[in-house]
Amino acid sequence: MSQIETTENHSVANKDHQKKAKEKRSKEEEGKCLPITTIIKLIITIFFWLLCIGIFIWYVVDSVEVYLVALPVTSMSYQKYESIPYPAVTVCNFNALIDCTTCGLSLHKTYSVNASTGTPEEATIPNKYVEIDAGVGGLFRCITFNNNSALHAAEEIGYSGSYSLYFHVPKMATDRNNRYGLQVSFHEPGTTPDVFAETNFCLEEADNSFVLSKVRTQRVKATKEEPNLESVRWSFQRSSIALAKKVEGLIVISFSYGTLNESKNKEVRTATIEKILGEISAILVALMGIDGLKFFNAVIELGYSFKKKTLMNVWKIFNKGRW
Ligand SMILES: *[C@@H]1O[C@H](CO)[C@@H](O)[C@H](O)[C@H]1NC(C)=O
Ligand SMILES: *[C@@H]1O[C@H](CO)[C@@H](O)[C@H](O)[C@H]1NC(C)=O
Ligand SMILES: *[C@@H]1O[C@H](CO)[C@@H](O)[C@H](O)[C@H]1NC(C)=O
Repeated sequence: MSQIETTENHSVANKDHQKKAKEKRSKEEEGKCLPITTIIKLIITIFFWLLCIGIFIWYVVDSVEVYLVALPVTSMSYQKYESIPYPAVTVCNFNALIDCTTCGLSLHKTYSVNASTGTPEEATIPNKYVEIDAGVGGLFRCITFNNNSALHAAEEIGYSGSYSLYFHVPKMATDRNNRYGLQVSFHEPGTTPDVFAETNFCLEEADNSFVLSKVRTQRVKATKEEPNLESVRWSFQRSSIALAKKVEGLIVISFSYGTLNESKNKEVRTATIEKILGEISAILVALMGIDGLKFFNAVIELGYSFKKKTLMNVWKIFNKGRW
């Protein structure tokens, strides 16, 4: 009876011992002794992780650089209108000496073509004499037309939609090496053109004719020359025809639209933030198989890792299934 009890006691003790030994072994396994093949696998995995992270960082830096320096491409389109407003027209004497008795100009007559009869008729365009101080460029004496957009919009193109402006321009002394004539700027109503930079010159004894088309440009970035993101310009073709009756000191300028279409030049970025983010996400998946949620989980886990002083949980998130 007592013998049996001892045996039983003995076997209980034995079981306890076995249990403790097992616990000890598993603790040891957890602590150090990983099999050599596991260690090699681990090293290779870490190596590839570092490689992928390296490539990823290089890719992000490269993409950001591309985004910052990429030149925009310009797309061109037309918008068709039934009528299109005339620009403001500023006409100046080419000569802009500060103290000068022959640098002025005066408006003689204004004509427009009656579209139903096809003949020129005297017309009025709101206009104003202005002196534009161009600094080192001198003092320009000018007449500005339609600066307040009062002129009715053009419904006809070409000759039928044309206006002609007749000016008297005082003669310069002919013994000097000066030039003689007018210059014309087409600009947005309510603005002052850069008259010193102007290169549209007009001759005496001829009708100097400008056939306009309106061009709107939208930029992605303002520059020193183009401080606004959107600007309107008038491009033109020019030609001239002699006046049958030559009047000394008379200079004629005509303008009309060649098209009621407005050209639109729109700059578009080749690299947009959305596109780059998309590409970065794609490379994240391709290189590391990381989706957004996984990444988010890992960031949260990273916070705990500092407390626990181990990156094991982060590692597990990214290597689940592989290990
Ligand atoms: C054009 O000429 C017709 C016929 O002479 C006239 O009735 C009409 O008022 C003119 N149009 C303009 C805008 O002057
Ligand atoms: C056009 O009008 C604007 C606004 O009234 C004015 O500031 C500007 O000086 C005018 N431009 C010319 C060339 O007269
Ligand atoms: C206006 O643009 C259209 C194309 O959008 C073109 O077919 C047409 O000839 C243009 N009109 C003029 C007057 O240039």
